[in-house]
Amino acid sequence: MIPNSHTPPAVAWHQVRKSYPDGPEALRGVDLTVAPDECLAILGTSGSGKTTLLKLVNRLIDPTSGDVLVRGVSTRDWDPIALRRSMGYVIQDVGLMPHMNVLKNVGLPLRLQGRPTQERDAEAWEWLELVGLEPDRFAPLRPHQLSGGQRQRVGVARALMGDPDLILMDEPFGALDPITRRELQDEFHRLRLRLRKAVVFVTHDIREACRVADRLAIVDHGTLIQVGTPADLLRRPANAFVRNFFSDAQSVLEDMLGDSA
Ligand SMILES: Nc1ncnc2c1ncn2[C@@H]1O[C@H](COP(=O)(O)OP(=O)(O)OP(=O)(O)O)[C@@H](O)[C@H]1O
Ligand SMILES: [Mg+2]
Repeated sequence: MIPNSHTPPAVAWHQVRKSYPDGPEALRGVDLTVAPDECLAILGTSGSGKTTLLKLVNRLIDPTSGDVLVRGVSTRDWDPIALRRSMGYVIQDVGLMPHMNVLKNVGLPLRLQGRPTQERDAEAWEWLELVGLEPDRFAPLRPHQLSGGQRQRVGVARALMGDPDLILMDEPFGALDPITRRELQDEFHRLRLRLRKAVVFVTHDIREACRVADRLAIVDHGTLIQVGTPADLLRRPANAFVRNFFSDAQSVLEDMLGDSA
């Protein structure tokens, strides 16, 4: 989990502050890193700054002060387009192209990289299988012909296309029924263990975070409250806010963590 001395973290936020015009200070000096093979879950209540942290990574926004480094290079020194194409990104409403079928939607990142049609269709086909969507059936369908859960799988497949070493996921399994959500969490976790990528996973669901992530970062009102493994946070919550966050999920977590909790 700890990067060796030659490998910079996949993402590092250094003393990051972000103020939106006419808004509150959304981030108030955040220091956080994600190792190259780590899944970090960012947890917090609505409006705490989670999406803001993600948007800084693919440079949809810039910090007001401080610095965000991707693979050791400040986002200010990355070309924004090259930066975005170097990572996978899943947003809450998935953002599929309505006029393209599922296969073309999944293949889009490779199309943007200028890869030939045959190559991108073949890779998209493979990723559909990996996220549990039978390609024979789903490849020709348009997004409106899918259920919400199927659309989210397409979004996850697209984020994995082109084998990015960094994936940003903003509530990727939100608004799903608990059973489908659980299936997707387990599938994603299996995939990630196989592929060993850096993932920043935003969620407000503590149980989901514990299932998919190596470490959790708890944010509140733009401040990072605590970072650690689920067992660390459960055993030694930094304050009442962290303790409360865990209280609802306590019994589930104790089961999941077994003796380690
Ligand atoms: N473009 C914007 N202009 C002004 N204020 C903004 C803008 N985007 C976000 N904010 C404010 O910044 C704060 C953090 O927003 P952010 O979207 O990061 O929260 P979040 O933790 O992702 O919340 P949620 O769980 O509801 O998605 C909020 O108070 C929000 O109103
Ligand atoms: Mg958000």
